[in-house]
Amino acid sequence: MSLLAQPRVLWRLLRGLPQTGSIADRLAAFYAPQADHYDSTRDGLLHGRPVLADLLDLAHGMRIVELGAGTGATLDLLGPRVDHLGHVTLVDLCAPLLAVARKRAARHPNVTVVEADATTWQPPAPVDAVIFSYALTMIPDWFRAIDNALAMLVPGGLIGVTDFHVSRRDPPTGLVRHSTAMRHFWPLWFGHDGVRPNPDHLPYLMDRFDAGVVMERTGSIPGLPGLRAPYYVFTGRKRR
Ligand SMILES: C[S@@+](CC[C@H](N)C(=O)[O-])C[C@H]1O[C@@H](n2cnc3c(N)ncnc32)[C@H](O)[C@@H]1O
Repeated sequence: MSLLAQPRVLWRLLRGLPQTGSIADRLAAFYAPQADHYDSTRDGLLHGRPVLADLLDLAHGMRIVELGAGTGATLDLLGPRVDHLGHVTLVDLCAPLLAVARKRAARHPNVTVVEADATTWQPPAPVDAVIFSYALTMIPDWFRAIDNALAMLVPGGLIGVTDFHVSRRDPPTGLVRHSTAMRHFWPLWFGHDGVRPNPDHLPYLMDRFDAGVVMERTGSIPGLPGLRAPYYVFTGRKRR
């Protein structure tokens, strides 16, 4: 379903992320009116999600954490692979989205849903993989979230990230350089809804992890014909 077909969702997006209150309260106010339509309205926008899900090298028995998991849509994208995993923990700070995630998780006895901050929450024991799917751009202390993911991984553990981004004016060798217009337009466009495409996410991930796949693409935006927003897909391993 298109974003434009849901007036409540569109109205909330037009009003933007509230500027006051705790992060959890602001996320709740922003997402509560959209929670039931979140999944059906994001498929045409969050193009990196299925790409990342296909790329993740998930062996039987692995323990996985998704930080900023929202409604747990990743479970559907991973499909039957979920039931062969050792354990999956979905972590998010937004109660209305987690209510949807809990319904989804009820189908999988090996999935737990946790209401907590991605920058500080730690599992009881190290895990084999951590996923961020369009979450880092909504976390102001995104570098703490990445460092927190690094801290919870076993040596050699897998990280998989996808999100909107813009390039640095002078990106590291091998990365795409976006035009000045793109570098200014997309942070302004998304910033209203608390989404901050950032030129430093991908270089920071490449610095902290041994990079596997680094993919930069653009994807269509519902309601903005002809415009394509840049996103990346990153997989890496914690250094041993
Ligand atoms: C755009 S949504 C993406 C949700 C989901 N991963 C997906 O791919 O559909 C961003 C998510 O980050 C969550 N989030 C933002 N700040 C957070 C924080 N500090 N700790 C945990 N989750 C956070 C929001 O509540 C929201 O669910």
